[in-house]
Parts: sequence; C-alpha cells; structure tokens
Amino acid sequence: MLFLPLGVYTLLLHILVLPVHANSPKIFVTTALVNFDARIVQAWSGGGGERWTITNDSNYPFAGREFGAADRWSLKGTQTFGSGYPYGNVDNATIAGRPFPYGLWPLYWGNNITGSDEYGPALDGIRPGGQLVTIPLKAEDGIYNITEGEMYHIIGDRDSATFMMISLVTSCHVSPAWPSKFDPTSPNSTVKMENVIQYYRASSFALASPGYNNTFARTNTNTELTESIPIPDTIRYSEFHKCIDDVIINALAIMNWPPGNNVGDTVTLALAVVGCMLPVFIWIYRVIRFYWRKFKRERRAAKRRKAEMIASRKRSLMYELYP
Ligand SMILES: *[C@@H]1O[C@H](CO)[C@@H](O)[C@H](O)[C@H]1NC(C)=O
Ligand SMILES: *[C@@H]1O[C@H](CO)[C@@H](O)[C@H](O)[C@H]1NC(C)=O
Ligand SMILES: *[C@@H]1O[C@H](CO)[C@@H](O)[C@H](O)[C@H]1NC(C)=O
Ligand SMILES: *[C@@H]1O[C@H](CO)[C@@H](O)[C@H](O)[C@H]1NC(C)=O
Ligand SMILES: *[C@@H]1O[C@H](CO)[C@@H](O)[C@H](O)[C@H]1NC(C)=O
Ligand SMILES: *[C@@H]1O[C@H](CO)[C@@H](O)[C@H](O)[C@H]1NC(C)=O
Repeated sequence: MLFLPLGVYTLLLHILVLPVHANSPKIFVTTALVNFDARIVQAWSGGGGERWTITNDSNYPFAGREFGAADRWSLKGTQTFGSGYPYGNVDNATIAGRPFPYGLWPLYWGNNITGSDEYGPALDGIRPGGQLVTIPLKAEDGIYNITEGEMYHIIGDRDSATFMMISLVTSCHVSPAWPSKFDPTSPNSTVKMENVIQYYRASSFALASPGYNNTFARTNTNTELTESIPIPDTIRYSEFHKCIDDVIINALAIMNWPPGNNVGDTVTLALAVVGCMLPVFIWIYRVIRFYWRKFKRERRAAKRRKAEMIASRKRSLMYELYP
C-alpha cells in the first residue's frame, strides 16, 4: 500500500498547482466571437504546438492568417524591424500579411515603415495584450556599475510590458515604473526606431537605449538585413543590459500550446491515475497469487494422496503375491 499516498499526493499537487497558474501572467487571445475559444499567451511559457488559423466567422481583420506554434528558442530577432519571425517571413520587403507566430502583433513605427500600417493604432481596441506602451528601465542606485546615463526602454503591448516589468523589478533591480502610451509618430516620443538594440518575439517587443543610434534602421527596407551600427561597448558589456536581456528571453509572454495539449498537465494526470491504480493492481496481483498458491498446494496434496494410494495398493498386492 506504499503507492497509495503517491497517487493521492500527485492528484493533490495537480489540484493545488492550478490556482497558482491562475495567478500567473496570462493574456487571452480571442479571434472569434461565436464561441469561447481562446488561446493563452503566458509569461515563461515554452510555446510550441500546432499552428492555428484565424477563422473568418466574425470579420476579424486578420482572418485566414496563421498564429501560434513558435517556441521560446527562436524568440530573439536582430536590430532590424521585421526580424525574428520563425515562420512567415517569405517577403523581405514587408511585414504586411504575415502570420503571428507568438500570437501577438508586431510593433508599429508609423509612416507604413516595412508595411506596418495595418497594425497601427486604428486596431488598438483588439490588439492582443492591449495598446502599445513603453516603459523606461533605470537601475536602482548602487547595484550595478552603471555608466553615466545608461538606461533602456521596453516597447510592446501593455500586458506583456507590465508582466515584464514585474520580472525586471524583481530580477534586475529596475526602478519600478508604469507604462505610458507609445506614440512613435509624436515628435516628443522618447524612443525612436534607431534606438532599438534588440527585437524579440517576431518584432512584437523591443529593447531600446538612447545611447544607441542605428542609422540603418530608418532607411532599411529588408527585414532580413544583418547590417547595423555596432552596439557601443558600454551597452554590450553592461551587466545591467545582460540581466534585462536574459530576463526578457526567459519570461516574455508567448502563446501556449493549444488547449488540451498541455504536456505537463497530461503527465501529472497520468502519474496520478497510475498512482491511484497501483493499489488495485497490487490487490489483483495478491489475489491471483493467493489462488495460484492454493491451487498448487491442492495439486501437491492430490499428488501426494495419489502416490500414497498407489503405494498402499502395491503394498497390498505384494501381500497377496507373497502370502
Ligand atoms: C470573411 O467573410 C466575409 C463575409 O462572409 C467576407 O465579406 C470577407 O471577404 C471574408 N474575409 C476573408 C479574409 O475571407
Ligand atoms: C503599406 O505598405 C504595404 C506594402 O509594404 C502596402 O501593401 C500597403 O498598401 C501600404 N499601406 C498604406 C496605407 O499605404
Ligand atoms: C566601473 O566601470 C568603470 C568604467 O567602465 C571602470 O573603470 C571601473 O573600474 C568599474 N568599477 C567596478 C567596481 O567594476
Ligand atoms: C511636445 O511637447 C511640447 C512641450 O512639452 C508640448 O508643447 C507639445 O504639445 C508636445 N507635442 C505633442 C504632439 O505631444
Ligand atoms: C541619430 O543620428 C542621426 C544622424 O546622425 C540624427 O539625425 C538622429 O537624430 C539621431 N537619432 C537619435 C535618436 O539620436
Ligand atoms: C531576403 O534577404 C536575405 C538576406 O539579405 C537574402 O539572402 C534573401 O535572398 C532575401 N529574400 C528575398 C525573397 O528577397
């Protein structure tokens, strides 16, 4: 009966872990208004699974496009807008018409740069994760050896950026700051396209620094361009920058496996079922062993009785043979 507690524990674990998950950063991506189907974009998710297609049942603007299935390994792009697409980058000249490998839309820089107008503020109302925002990242005093004026900005949808901020404040000692609306077309915008030092998640999230000016960025028309102004050493070798980059790669919210395909849940459930069934198997095994032994005992006894009978008959015959 040693295995009974194991099964019960696994089941308990399965039940107890769910509320913890419910508290973890999640974005529900709804693409149809005729059912409750949604795919979940979640921080620390591994991504992967099957690609889905946006159905045309409610005139969603991107009906027919594929989304999901990309995994965390391919999260990082380059300094070029439109980079980092694990699939769907068939046309180097534009990001218009592309799928959403991580479930979120690419950034928008205004002026239809690289065909990005279709993801502009006109559709902010349905942008997964909310409208585009930017958050300044400054290190708390005395933690890192920060060079004068070293700071960064993250740019992305509201929910992804806010979740990211929670991780950055706890892991990289970033000074807490709330998002502000990202308006790339405003002359007052603090973050420019040429400041981006890294795109992530199919160009739907970016890290920028005012200390970097990539003059290739504005004039470029090729999303696969690898040419760029080198990142200055003060950023390249900065521990603060390294921490931010690592945390983004590990924690940035991406689309989960489709529902019902959660490997972790399936394994836990299978373990729980096996754990609970083991006592039954052991009981069945014992019952079979009991009857098998009983059968063997009885057969041995029968044999012995038969042998004795034959022996006694022989003895009686001998007696008759030799009177
Ligand atoms: C979606 O369906 C509507 C109405 O049936 C149609 O007008 C529209 O062209 C369709 N869009 C796509 C992308 O298939
Ligand atoms: C933006 O560029 C794409 C191609 O890159 C083009 O198809 C689209 O019509 C342009 N949109 C506007 C509003 O000019
Ligand atoms: C901090 O950085 C400066 C310039 O990069 C360097 O000269 C100095 O030695 C560093 N200090 C520490 C404690 O690492
Ligand atoms: C930019 O900032 C200036 C001064 O702070 C302000 O007068 C102006 O209205 C701002 N422009 C926009 C487009 O926000
Ligand atoms: C980058 O450099 C160009 C040309 O030197 C300049 O016009 C532009 O304002 C700079 N951008 C930033 C964000 O400093
Ligand atoms: C896309 O860009 C890459 C690198 O510049 C180039 O090798 C490739 O031929 C381009 N593909 C298309 C379809 O333009």
